[in-house]
Amino acid sequence: MRLATRLQGLQANVFADMDRAKQEAIAAGLPLWDLSLGSSDLPVAPHIVAAIQDSLQDSHSFGYTLFGATADLRRAIAQWLVVKFGVEVDPETEVLPLIGSQEGTGHLPLAVLNPGDMALLQNPGYPSHYGGVALAGGVPYGMELRPETGFLPQFDRIPGDVLARTRLMVLSYPHNPTTAIAPREFWEEALAFARRHDLVLAHDFPYVDFALDGSLPPSVLQVDRGRERSLEFFSLSKSYHMGGLRVGFAVGNRELIGALRRIKAVVDFNQYRGILRGAIAALTGPQDGLGHTQQILRERRDAAVQAFRAIGWTVPVPAATMYLWAPLPGGGNSLRFCQELVKNTGVALAPGSGFGSAGEGTCVWPWCSLRRFCRRRSRRSANFSDKLRSIAVLHSDETRQVGLQGRSPRIGSIRLSLGRKTVSF
Ligand SMILES: Cc1ncc(COP(=O)(O)O)c(C=O)c1O
Repeated sequence: MRLATRLQGLQANVFADMDRAKQEAIAAGLPLWDLSLGSSDLPVAPHIVAAIQDSLQDSHSFGYTLFGATADLRRAIAQWLVVKFGVEVDPETEVLPLIGSQEGTGHLPLAVLNPGDMALLQNPGYPSHYGGVALAGGVPYGMELRPETGFLPQFDRIPGDVLARTRLMVLSYPHNPTTAIAPREFWEEALAFARRHDLVLAHDFPYVDFALDGSLPPSVLQVDRGRERSLEFFSLSKSYHMGGLRVGFAVGNRELIGALRRIKAVVDFNQYRGILRGAIAALTGPQDGLGHTQQILRERRDAAVQAFRAIGWTVPVPAATMYLWAPLPGGGNSLRFCQELVKNTGVALAPGSGFGSAGEGTCVWPWCSLRRFCRRRSRRSANFSDKLRSIAVLHSDETRQVGLQGRSPRIGSIRLSLGRKTVSF
């Protein structure tokens, strides 16, 4: 049997290698603690659950949900956008419900790119952005994000021959994995750049409510007020803890919304109506849960950063999202580190290299689900702190100690120990 060559463009070798290491940990009898996804463990608000529950009693809720049947949700989204950003859009032509924002950004390249066209993506960036371009037969160009430039791309570094072939630019701030926030001036610059080169400007915005100082990060729709060439993707997965329910939406340029709708029409009939009603309840109901979520996330973030520092691993304090972007103290191979970590402790993380070449030397720790980490007195003592204690960053005195054992690791390298077993990087 022969399969399509496009599958090769989708191969995320890093994540496949991590999957193998996870299986080895399970086979060795370690309880797997999979932190490689930023999935919230906080409860969905009761009014959202009630809306879904009520739908289950409504026998009319089980049929296909055609576009017309999404009208109430589209109106709720338009209303939400006015309240949130003061932006008015037409719910008929400028709003499209999605099965999660990833479904939308994954399908968008099919609506915008011809085979061989290029798309500007972030490096490091969200892997699905690369997958979507590959599905459409497009060619990604990873714009390197560096700490010294605030993890914002330098548009003037993109070669002219790349720009001549580029049709689409996908950005996402607050940014997974680096946690950077883009200021409004950056969006003005990005829009001017997209205009100059006639690009579609897509903004993946699932962390709209995750600037942890409570501020609201800018929307591209506040800058592209005429919705000339922008499309913004929102998610209910993070803000309302509804990741498993798969609901998000796109808002923006009507031609792009229409094109994405045509692609989606081939693939799906939207979700179950009860989920859409849950989304309406989330967007139109009380929003005080957002502040509560941020409070919990701040506590978990601070506890995680403190625990890292206690073992000598200095990590930047994330201002947004739910991740620690943690450069390995001695640099080095992030996949190898994550493989050894899961094989020795059962804790699975995402290696930075899975987010692109500029992610090498770093690993991503989602602390959003570290509930046990913050409850040290919990009877379940196998918490994150305990796991973390089994990893130590070597300082000079420890180097001597390890040296006595016949090893000579670099200062700043990582020693990972569990019982009598020690692994150094
Ligand atoms: C940048 C980014 N986009 C999209 C998603 C997925 O969002 P959704 O659940 O709405 O598909 C994530 C999830 O981690 C993400 O980090």
